[in-house]
Amino acid sequence: MRSSTLAVSVAALPGALAWGGFGHITVAYIASNFVSSDTTSYLQTLLRNDTGDYLAGVATWADSARYSKWWRWTGGFHYIDAKDSPPSYCGIDYERDCKKDQGCVVSAMHNYTTRLLDTELSLYERAVAAKFVIHFVGDIHQPLHTEDVERGGNGIHVTFDGANFNLHHVWDTSIAEKLVGGIHRKPYPYAKKWADELTKEIKVGKYSSGSANWLKNTNISDPVSTALAWAIEGNALVCTTVLPEGAEAIRNQELGSDYYEKAAPVVEAQIAKAGYRLAAWLDLIVASLKTRSSSPASTPGDL
Ligand SMILES: *[C@@H]1O[C@H](CO)[C@@H](O)[C@H](O)[C@H]1NC(C)=O
Ligand SMILES: *[C@@H]1O[C@H](CO)[C@@H](O)[C@H](O)[C@H]1NC(C)=O
Ligand SMILES: *[C@@H]1O[C@H](CO)[C@@H](O)[C@H](O)[C@H]1NC(C)=O
Repeated sequence: MRSSTLAVSVAALPGALAWGGFGHITVAYIASNFVSSDTTSYLQTLLRNDTGDYLAGVATWADSARYSKWWRWTGGFHYIDAKDSPPSYCGIDYERDCKKDQGCVVSAMHNYTTRLLDTELSLYERAVAAKFVIHFVGDIHQPLHTEDVERGGNGIHVTFDGANFNLHHVWDTSIAEKLVGGIHRKPYPYAKKWADELTKEIKVGKYSSGSANWLKNTNISDPVSTALAWAIEGNALVCTTVLPEGAEAIRNQELGSDYYEKAAPVVEAQIAKAGYRLAAWLDLIVASLKTRSSSPASTPGDL
């Protein structure tokens, strides 16, 4: 979501945020199901919330923030505009695609992971960093957050079950919400339910054999390579699933049936991956802080 007119519609329609808000909240709940108990207590303290909603409750903060005057400059952190040419060629070139002046989701993951690990920063700054990391792991997994074509699909008008949207919105919101049968203006309970179902699929269901591979490029010493690997994987889906026959083949078309049938499993898998990877990333951050625990300020409360 990066069109300026969106600021207005977001204000008018609470809940209409990237990955629908719903996607981000689901990712956070999945992560809370997988993180270690050390991670839970560290982040509950840092985020000042000792409930099971400590991650979910901050998952959409970065979207609200970017539409405020104070945080507007962070808008470019939510995506990386791959200048590839789907469907014939997908790919991300970090030097080419991460804008030098405004940064991108990959550089932002690097910056805010580093800041979360920096115990010299104030608790406030580290809580902000945590909220950005929690959000950006979600964004990286939305294929249209890794694509330049028509501003990540914002310029492609389509209909979805008869309603007018742009393609970016369909991938942020419409597909996921249809998949769970609608969220009835209650994103949190529906996200929690979906997260628990996907958690089970990861542990003992259809994702159980593949999920070990989901962590293979995860390296806490190299946040750029890690985030870039996730982004490249999502971007490849632009060629296979988002624009398999190019933008013109779907412009002004109805995407609620055949297109949806192919896209829904991809959206579901991306949400599951994002949640599982977010948990692993947060665990690595907290473990890394703990190995330096001879230094005082390694738990948030110590400052
Ligand atoms: C924790 O977060 C949830 C979700 O945002 C919120 O409803 C709840 O009030 C928070 N609890 C505390 C103690 O801050
Ligand atoms: C890193 O984050 C800080 C705090 O939000 C910000 O001031 C700085 O510009 C960021 N740096 C980069 C390179 O994005
Ligand atoms: C992780 O990243 C660091 C820093 O780039 C590198 O030295 C190390 O070899 C990487 N580890 C693995 C397992 O790739």
